[in-house]
Amino acid sequence: MKTRIEEALGYIGKHIKNQPKILLVLGSGLSALAEETLETILIPYKDIPNFPISTAPGHKSRLRSGKLAGCELVIMEGRFHYYEGYSMDDIAFPVRLMKRLGVEKLVLTNAAGGINRTFRPGDLMLIHDHINMTGQNLLIGKNDDAYGPRFPDMSRLYDKNLNEIILNTAKNMSVDLKTGVYAFMSGPSFETPAEIRMLEILGADAVGMSTVPEAVCAGHAGMKVAGISCISNMAAGILDQPITEQEVLETGLMVKEKFSALLKGFLPLI
Ligand code: HPA
Repeated sequence: MKTRIEEALGYIGKHIKNQPKILLVLGSGLSALAEETLETILIPYKDIPNFPISTAPGHKSRLRSGKLAGCELVIMEGRFHYYEGYSMDDIAFPVRLMKRLGVEKLVLTNAAGGINRTFRPGDLMLIHDHINMTGQNLLIGKNDDAYGPRFPDMSRLYDKNLNEIILNTAKNMSVDLKTGVYAFMSGPSFETPAEIRMLEILGADAVGMSTVPEAVCAGHAGMKVAGISCISNMAAGILDQPITEQEVLETGLMVKEKFSALLKGFLPLI
């Protein structure tokens, strides 16, 4: 009998023939980054057997395969957040599906609140490490040895080699790319100012509600991982103003050109 992933793989395999090596996940307000793919194939999540469906604003809920800057990609236009009520198994599903399809690298993007006071909304931050504040771990439960070990090493989760290529590309393109530690909070409420002061003391530079489960899942499965945050707002309490979803989506649009240029710059090199 076919597993749930094998059923999805059968469907995807009929549509995606070009053997993509990179999965790009687009975060809130960042779906415009996918618009320039060539030889595009769009697959709505709802058509893929057993695939979860994203409900977050600014997410398109479809898989896109195509070429960007000559590079064969699969793009998730919309991801699955823990705060939407998805289980960690749901969040793992697309990552493991892509692993089974032969994808070797995962590039994660997200919108995040800036904690580091030298950051400004519209900045891009390469994630060099994370802090998981949720008490959840995607790998809790019976380990599937076919993907990876019970106790996977996380000391090199965000791949050094990929990060070097991304940083060099940014430098050559004169894109100001910050680096930092991403703190994963469950959401969906934004943080309190006290929580942000705590995260600052713990060494976080940015905070968000995604990315870490997918990164852990991919790392466990032996995929190489990179993550880039768009600092969409300063985190709670840093400025004397409330945080709105509107602001998060607007900043995503504002950085579109810069983010897209950076992606097109490094994707063919990794
Ligand atoms: N906190 C958590 N997640 C976020 C934020 C924030 O300030 N901005 C965008 N995503």
